[in-house]
Amino acid sequence: MSTVGKAGLEDVVVSTTDICYIDGREGRLIYRGYDVDDLAAHSTFEEVVYLLWHGVLPSKKEYETFYKALSASTNRKLPPKLITILHALPKKTTPMEVLRTGVSALSAWDPDAADNSREASVRKAMRLTAQMPTLVAAWERIRRGKAPLAPNPKLSLSANFLYMMSGKKPTDLAVKTFDVALILHADHEFNASTFAARVTAATLSDMHSAITSAIGALKGPLHGGANEQVMLMVDKIKDPAKAEAWIRKAIADKMRLMGFGHRVYRVEDPRAKHLRRLATELGRQVGDESKVQILNTVARVVTEEKHIYPNVDLFSGAGYAAMGIATDQFTPIFAMSRVAGWAAHVLEQHGNNRLIRPRGEYTGPTRATYVPISQR
Ligand code: SDX
Repeated sequence: MSTVGKAGLEDVVVSTTDICYIDGREGRLIYRGYDVDDLAAHSTFEEVVYLLWHGVLPSKKEYETFYKALSASTNRKLPPKLITILHALPKKTTPMEVLRTGVSALSAWDPDAADNSREASVRKAMRLTAQMPTLVAAWERIRRGKAPLAPNPKLSLSANFLYMMSGKKPTDLAVKTFDVALILHADHEFNASTFAARVTAATLSDMHSAITSAIGALKGPLHGGANEQVMLMVDKIKDPAKAEAWIRKAIADKMRLMGFGHRVYRVEDPRAKHLRRLATELGRQVGDESKVQILNTVARVVTEEKHIYPNVDLFSGAGYAAMGIATDQFTPIFAMSRVAGWAAHVLEQHGNNRLIRPRGEYTGPTRATYVPISQR
C-alpha cells in the first residue's frame, strides 16, 4: 500500500477526464478545449451546458432543439406536491438546505429515476438544470410569504430566473451579467463537490443522488459557501474608506480570508477578472459602487501582504447583490450553474466506471483485549 500523500488529496490525480482543464500556474480554465475567456465573451449558459454534456459546440439546429427543451415549462416546472413540501419547511430554512432537500425529492417524481442509461441520465440532467432555478426562486418567494411564479418558457434560463426571483423583467445588463456568471461557474475539474458527485456515481448510484451529494459538499464555506462569506465581510466593512484598516487587522488576526486562495491556482483565478468587471458595471448601473470599491481595496492589500489571490468567490456576490439578490442565495446560484458540470462528470464516470474506494493508513492499536463492562 502506498504511503499517505499530502492532506486533502492535494496533487493526487484520481483519473483522466475530457471535460475540464485548469492550468494553475498560467491561470487558465478550459471546458472541452475552449478557453473560458472565449466562452464568457461569446457563448451562452445553455450552449456551455450542451458543450459540457456532449463534448462539442452544437450546430445552430442542435442548439435550438437543446435550448427549447431546457426552457420548456414541462422541464422547468416543479411537481405541485414538492411546492407543498416547501410550504411545510420552517421559513428560516436556508436556501442551500432547501436546494439539497428539493433536488433529492425531485427524483420521486422523475420518470427516469430508476434508469442509469446515458440517454435517461441526460434527460434527468436536463430536468434538474431546468428545475433548480425554479426551486431556488420558489423558496425565495415562499419564505417572503409570496406565491412562487411560474417559469416563463419564452425567457432564457438566466432571464427566467431573475424574473421568477423578483417578479419584474430584468435589465439586459443584469441578464448578460448573470449568464456570464453561470458560464464561469459551470465546471472546474475535480473540485470537492464534483468529486463528491463522481464518488456517488461510481457506486452506480443515480443522477439525483450524485447531485444531492454535490450540493452537500458545495454548501461548505471552504468551497461554494465562500461567496456568501465574502458579502458578509463587505457588509461588516460597510464604508470603502474603512476597508484598508479592516483587512489589515484581519490579516494580523490570521483570519481565513474568504474569496482568496485556491488549491490549484497559484495566480489569480481567471474567472475573477470577469466577475470583477461585471460587478463594477452593474454597481455603476444601480448607483452603488461601494461593494466593489471595498473588494478592490481588500484584494490589493491581501495580494500585497499574503501573496494569495482572488478566486471565483470574491466578486460574484457583489454582482448578485447589485441585482437585488439576497446573500444566502449566492451559493444556490453557484449550484444552479455547477449542476451542468456535475452532470457531465456523472455521465463521464458512468461511461467508464470503477468504484472509487481509496485506503486509509491505520494508526490505531491492533491487538486490544475486550474487557467486559462490569470490569471497566
Ligand atoms: C471554490 O477546488 C475548486 O476548484 C473550487 C472552486 C470551484 O470552482 O469549484 O474554485 C470554488 O471553492 C473556490 C475557493 C472558495 N473558498 C474560499 O475562498 C475560502 C478561503 N480559501 C481558503 O480556505 C483556501 O485557500 C482554500 C480552501 C480555497 C484552499 O485551501 P488549501 O489548498 O487547503 O490551502 P491551505 O488552507 O492548506 O492553505 C495553505 C496556506 C496556509 O498557510 P500556512 O498555515 O501553511 O502558513 O495558505 C494560507 C493558509 O493559512 N491560506 C490562507 C488562505 N488560503 C490559504 N490564509 C488566509 N486566507 C485564505 N483564504
